[in-house]
Amino acid sequence: VRALALDVLGRIEAGAWSDRLLAEVERGLPAVRDRQLLHRLVLDTLRWQGALDAVLAPRVRGGLGRLDPPVRAALRVGLAQASVHGLPVAVAVDTAVAGARAVQGRPGAGLVNAVLRRCLAPGPPELDAAATVPGWLLERWRRTYGADAAAAMVATINRPPRPFLVARAGSTGRDALATDLAREEIATRPARRHPAGLEVLGGAPQTSPRFAAGEFVLVDEGAALVAWLAAPRDERPAADLAAAPGGKASLLAWQAAGPVVALERQSGRARALAATLARTTGAADAAALRADAGRAPLADGSCGTVLLDAPCSGTGTLRRRPERRHRLGPGDIDRCARDQSGLLSAAARLVGRGGGLVYAVCSLEPEEGVERVRALLAADPGLRPVDPAERLGPAADGLVTGDPPVLLTRPDIAGTEGFVAARLERRA
Ligand SMILES: C[S@@+](CC[C@H](N)C(=O)[O-])C[C@H]1O[C@@H](n2cnc3c(N)ncnc32)[C@H](O)[C@@H]1O
Repeated sequence: VRALALDVLGRIEAGAWSDRLLAEVERGLPAVRDRQLLHRLVLDTLRWQGALDAVLAPRVRGGLGRLDPPVRAALRVGLAQASVHGLPVAVAVDTAVAGARAVQGRPGAGLVNAVLRRCLAPGPPELDAAATVPGWLLERWRRTYGADAAAAMVATINRPPRPFLVARAGSTGRDALATDLAREEIATRPARRHPAGLEVLGGAPQTSPRFAAGEFVLVDEGAALVAWLAAPRDERPAADLAAAPGGKASLLAWQAAGPVVALERQSGRARALAATLARTTGAADAAALRADAGRAPLADGSCGTVLLDAPCSGTGTLRRRPERRHRLGPGDIDRCARDQSGLLSAAARLVGRGGGLVYAVCSLEPEEGVERVRALLAADPGLRPVDPAERLGPAADGLVTGDPPVLLTRPDIAGTEGFVAARLERRA
């Protein structure tokens, strides 16, 4: 598993996304324990990479950049095992050396051994959490939320999240699902906020036949709250304009009295969306279409509900997708904000009288969130903002902020990924 982790980390450094690659690689690992170890090694190493490199780099002649990717990965994993996972130093070094030998032969293993011993004597170093997020982003969070909040956010996104699921049977059937899952050795407990949600404490819910049968979806609790904010209220069509892989579209379909249309622009992702909806909604009225949200095949004013879960920088999802922090640059925020403005105006045109528009991003940057909502409200006086607490009740406690009021699931407060979502309604 350790040798596999080095290969996976090398491929992620070359541009692969951790969630897709791990899902693919894990098909060849039947034991749940091995899959969980692979996950921990890969994702914690990516989460702590900035701080690990700060310790390693001065101890590698010529710098980390000159090393082959699996050797660099072995150094990071070895140090993470000692400093993050608390493994005894000798075990952390030996396993990293064995991993490097398996993928890179004797010279790679010798270097890993020498460098790790230098780093770990006299004991594992304390890692600098602030170095795990790029400086420009940390500075932004400090400006937006304050220094203490930024530090708390960083601490939260460096701890692995618990898997989370929402039961199709809703709040009434959730406990029965929990009992059924317990029989499959999948331990859960009721969610903190979402009434149909279960936090997964142990086991592998994605391997359950109940997952294949669409009895639940695996989503982040923040995403589930966004979908709840968008729950359709009438029989007019509900449109999810940026829908793949389809977690929120499934939740909309479970609550809708009318048809649900889910759009996705990228062909591969549109196929994944169709597969999700086939699993979760069966014969129910939910259609997946490959289409551009900016030119949706729907008439203006025809929808009772529109959800735009817009493409964004993803700074709210750095816990589940840790490699994203190493790929983002400050220019991405403005570029995303420009795209979001165009999509949001197109989304607003589809909303009929008395209908609702939910705009959401998994970004913690105001330019992509509340500022986009303010700009739309200024341009379209037919829309009025609705306080998210009106819909979510106590589930939104501590999560509503700003003017206009938006749902902000800050990771350190909500314990979820970071989403911003606003509900706007078109006057009747
Ligand atoms: C934030 S993700 C959506 C996540 C999804 N709502 C869910 O809960 O599973 C944004 C998606 O929008 C898609 N996308 C980007 N630009 C688009 C466009 N112009 N039209 C439709 N989909 C688009 C991306 O490919 C991506 O799959």
